[in-house]
Amino acid sequence: MKTLVTYTSQTGNTKKIAEAIYGEIKGEKELKDISEVKNLEGYDLAFIGFPVLQFDVPPKVKSFLSENTAGKNIAIFMTHAVPEGFEAIHSWTGSCAQAAAGAKILGSFDCQGELAQPVIDMLLKADDPQMKAFGEMGPATKGQPDEFRVQKAKEFAKEIQAKL
Ligand SMILES: Cc1cc2nc3c(=O)[nH]c(=O)nc-3n(C[C@H](O)[C@H](O)[C@H](O)COP(=O)(O)O)c2cc1C
Repeated sequence: MKTLVTYTSQTGNTKKIAEAIYGEIKGEKELKDISEVKNLEGYDLAFIGFPVLQFDVPPKVKSFLSENTAGKNIAIFMTHAVPEGFEAIHSWTGSCAQAAAGAKILGSFDCQGELAQPVIDMLLKADDPQMKAFGEMGPATKGQPDEFRVQKAKEFAKEIQAKL
């Protein structure tokens, strides 16, 4: 059994979750930035993670999902600034499912990730009111993902492996 944990992360939040998941993986395993992954050949399971950017799954993650996941066992994880349970999260999970239409998606995990201060400053100056609203949400995201969320990510990793 060989498992890949791959992710993209700009400010470290998704990386933190990726490392927590990786720590729980049994058997042969690799942890890689998504840009270092050519394809999923040779892996029995892949955890694929990203930060939500501009109300969407980053384009490079979408193309990775659509180009590489057919016939593969995958699990999705994401971090976002909005609180957990926010309605749009379903649409982000849905975008992943659409892009990875040929894959067997074993589950998905999401949690809040701190909006970095330079990003808050940039968003507060944006003309787009939606982006501005994100900037205002910034302070409420401080310290995320916290230990509780990291623990949840570890449980997620165990649940997914138990499905195979
Ligand atoms: C340019 C930009 C756009 C973002 N857009 C969204 C968004 O639309 N919705 C959201 O919930 N979070 C948004 N975020 C917040 C990130 O998803 C969140 O901080 C995430 O945890 C960052 O993960 P990372 O540290 O792995 O890069 C945005 C962040 C940046 C930098």
